[in-house]
Amino acid sequence: MESSIFYQEINNEKEVFEHSFKNKIPLLLKGPTGSGKSRFVEYMAEQLDQKLITVCCHEETSATDLIGRYIIKGAETVWIDGPLSKAVKEGAILYLDEVAEARPDVIVAIHSLTDHRRELFIDKLGETIKADPNFMLVASYNPGYQKGYKELKPSTRQRFIALSFDYPKADIEMMILEKESGIDHSNAKKIVNIGNKIRNLTELGLAETVSTRLLVDASILIKSGLAKRQSMHVAVVEPLSDDEHTTTSLKDLCDLMI
Ligand SMILES: Nc1ncnc2c1ncn2[C@@H]1O[C@H](COP(=O)(O)OP(=O)(O)OP(=O)(O)O)[C@@H](O)[C@H]1O
Ligand SMILES: [Mg+2]
Repeated sequence: MESSIFYQEINNEKEVFEHSFKNKIPLLLKGPTGSGKSRFVEYMAEQLDQKLITVCCHEETSATDLIGRYIIKGAETVWIDGPLSKAVKEGAILYLDEVAEARPDVIVAIHSLTDHRRELFIDKLGETIKADPNFMLVASYNPGYQKGYKELKPSTRQRFIALSFDYPKADIEMMILEKESGIDHSNAKKIVNIGNKIRNLTELGLAETVSTRLLVDASILIKSGLAKRQSMHVAVVEPLSDDEHTTTSLKDLCDLMI
């Protein structure tokens, strides 16, 4: 199918997704920030002609947020389906972004959906709904956070098949920058070289290193006419660190290489 969404495949992940969808096995995408997980899911939903419902999970995300709640409307109370119930009924792909951040009751709520039962229990209604054949659960998590990051329990992880994402090899990443920003090849090459140089500077102790997303942002700024050095400073260096020592040396490195 012709696609309006650009996604550069890295390691046969499209085929894995297709089989996961066809066989109704939930899919977990692991990988650092800005490595293409969300873009991949958007692309695959379009390819498979499926509706996509995305929920960005955070510490306050509860089962109620996902399943639904009663609200008061005039003199009546009416039930409103949450995104999970909607996806289960309509047969959509539900993408739970950063699932490990959500409250534990979210994990409990999805358990019966992720095994052979494929059903959702809505306790407030006393109802069990069978998932539509096209319902698919995709979740992402970032195993890299150093401070306060949350793990997924084995009993949860082992309900999914998992794909690992990482920043792509230089030639592929250059292609992504060119496609996403329209920047020329020689600039794309310089930006990717800077990215990889910074990724190799493990002694900086950065919580997360330069993502493809940041490199795309730098390319967009340069393409739009902002000076190259400043583009690198604001798109790549400043988002990475607040430590003046670190930012100064990273800026020097960018100035040298761009
Ligand atoms: N394989 C790829 N094909 C096309 N674009 C990509 C790819 N990988 C990264 N990108 C670019 O990087 C940007 C960030 O990717 P995306 O939002 O999918 O990351 P993510 O892994 O979902 O990050 P987060 O964990 O922060 O949500 C995209 O908007 C796109 O410009
Ligand atoms: Mg994402």
